[in-house]
Amino acid sequence: MNFFLETLKVLVLSIYFLLESLVLLFIPVRKKSVVGEIVLITGAGSGIGRLLALKFARLGATLVLWDINQEGNKETSRLAQENGAVRVHAYMCDCSKRQEIYRVADQVKKEVGDVSILINNAGIVTGKKFIDCPDSLMEKTMEVNIMAHFWTYKAFLPAMMASNHGHLVSIASSAGLIGVNGLSDYCASKFAAVGFAETIGLEMLDLGKTGIKTTIVCPYFINTGMFDGCKTKWPCLLPILDTEYAAEKIMSAILREQVYIMMPRAMYFLSFLKSILPVKMSILLGDYFGAFHFMDYFKGRVKKD
Ligand SMILES: NC(=O)c1ccc[n+]([C@@H]2O[C@H](COP(=O)([O-])OP(=O)(O)OC[C@H]3O[C@@H](n4cnc5c(N)ncnc54)[C@H](O)[C@@H]3O)[C@@H](O)[C@H]2O)c1
Repeated sequence: MNFFLETLKVLVLSIYFLLESLVLLFIPVRKKSVVGEIVLITGAGSGIGRLLALKFARLGATLVLWDINQEGNKETSRLAQENGAVRVHAYMCDCSKRQEIYRVADQVKKEVGDVSILINNAGIVTGKKFIDCPDSLMEKTMEVNIMAHFWTYKAFLPAMMASNHGHLVSIASSAGLIGVNGLSDYCASKFAAVGFAETIGLEMLDLGKTGIKTTIVCPYFINTGMFDGCKTKWPCLLPILDTEYAAEKIMSAILREQVYIMMPRAMYFLSFLKSILPVKMSILLGDYFGAFHFMDYFKGRVKKD
């Protein structure tokens, strides 16, 4: 195709896709069924992971729950059964260890079957300024928050590709779109998680594997306990999200096969502004929204327990 024809095609299709997305704002997209799907959730022992497990339980999915915290995972398993799950399989897995991920993944394939919805949710945060971050904690953050995504995809994506059916869900963060003071390793891992999930989504499209969906989740802070102590500067503009609200939004995005979900909605606008505004203005706005001091009173989950 010559330059003129290809450019014309792109312009016409762009207008069509814009109109389509406008129409879809008013017509709710049908939610897919997950009955019989094998859903693996990492970090299922608390917070968002637990609530997602309970939501999938109510919809008739087979659950595979991974967590390093055996007690928390057992409790999620019990609650999932209470919520109607017929098949729940809980495994202790330290997602910071590649060989352990591969070993437990093999066990899952033998004992349960091929995972068709993979939710990489396990996450940790160091919560110190870069210069004070111990090397070992920064390494751990990268291992859990992003390297584990590589190894779980390596383990479960081939079967999804063979059947051209599956869904890859990455629980990233708004800290994967905009830098936040005091979260250097966390932001690095979450930027990587967004880039990785986006790229694999494109590779699947290019390979014609259109049956494999991608959902990238970028929430602002949620009151699960992970960021205990942190304060948002203007709660009316950027509220700390309620865990149940966030889990419901994530679930709805998965069932509607939405590629990106940012929460609250202001995050769409803020990440757009960041990419078009002069740097000095972005910094001014970052300061205004509290990105410089959000972590000042961080206690986190470990100290709380
Ligand atoms: N809470 C927030 O403000 C917030 C905001 C944006 C994104 N997120 C992301 O959402 C996800 C869930 O976070 P949450 O708020 O529910 O936190 P959480 O601490 O309640 O849950 C994290 C879970 O991951 C598990 N985990 C930690 N290290 C692990 C390891 N090595 N192997 C296996 N499991 C491990 C923990 O035991 C825990 O059950 C994380 O990826 C987090 O980064 C959280």
